Amino acid sequence: MDYNFQPKMIGIICNWCCYGGADLCGVSRFQYPPHIRLIRVMCSARVDLLHIVRAFTNGIDGVFVGGCHLCDCHYVTNGNFNAFSMVQVGRKIMERIGLYPERLRLEWVSAGEGIRFANFMNEYSAEITKLGPLGKAEGMDDTTLAFKLEAVQKLIPYIKLVLTQRLHVPVRTEEAYQAFFTSDEFDRLFEELIADKMAISLITSLLREKSLSTGEIAETLGLSPSEVTRHIIGSSRQGLIRYDVNTKSYALS
Ligand code: FES
Repeated sequence: MDYNFQPKMIGIICNWCCYGGADLCGVSRFQYPPHIRLIRVMCSARVDLLHIVRAFTNGIDGVFVGGCHLCDCHYVTNGNFNAFSMVQVGRKIMERIGLYPERLRLEWVSAGEGIRFANFMNEYSAEITKLGPLGKAEGMDDTTLAFKLEAVQKLIPYIKLVLTQRLHVPVRTEEAYQAFFTSDEFDRLFEELIADKMAISLITSLLREKSLSTGEIAETLGLSPSEVTRHIIGSSRQGLIRYDVNTKSYALS
């Protein structure tokens, strides 16, 4: 661990509760690390997966989303449930591309909880410092990290559609959301609807650079050769990828 490492962190927090908590933390003179920068939005539902991926692309080591406690959102749609779903999916995506999902956190803080805000910030900063710099701590060089985040970024419109259409929880209660996002059903839908698309996006982005064999693709992406073969067969059928007999490798069609 690099003992001089000071993480770059941002918190995207809602105006009505979490920002109030941060404000109270300040007037009460509770201390938290200065390397965490706060961005105020009107509701945690305003936080888009794209904001998070862009933050990581720009070298942020930890991102947290802060909102009102569940069911206390100041908007009739109870927008913080949207933030809840988005963060669950975001953390799973991070895991899938080899990043520590702990780098993305969701926290509920009311305007009267200045001390809770300070405690969370201190604990979260210590956690990210311990993890280390984004990418390097995960054993990834800068090029691989940038390429993986770019592949995810391209899929964001599709992922948002899946979130609203297929990962929709009908009842807006904490119990219902917790139950769904820890269920096997969620894991299955994630694999079926997002993970496969993401793997294909990663493979095609990789092949844009140069032709590669199954083994080389598997090694670069941290996938098993059989998984790569399955995606290549599917993509070849759709005319996305072709086999080059001369180089004995796969290339974009
Ligand atoms: Fe705070 Fe919606 S207004 S989460």
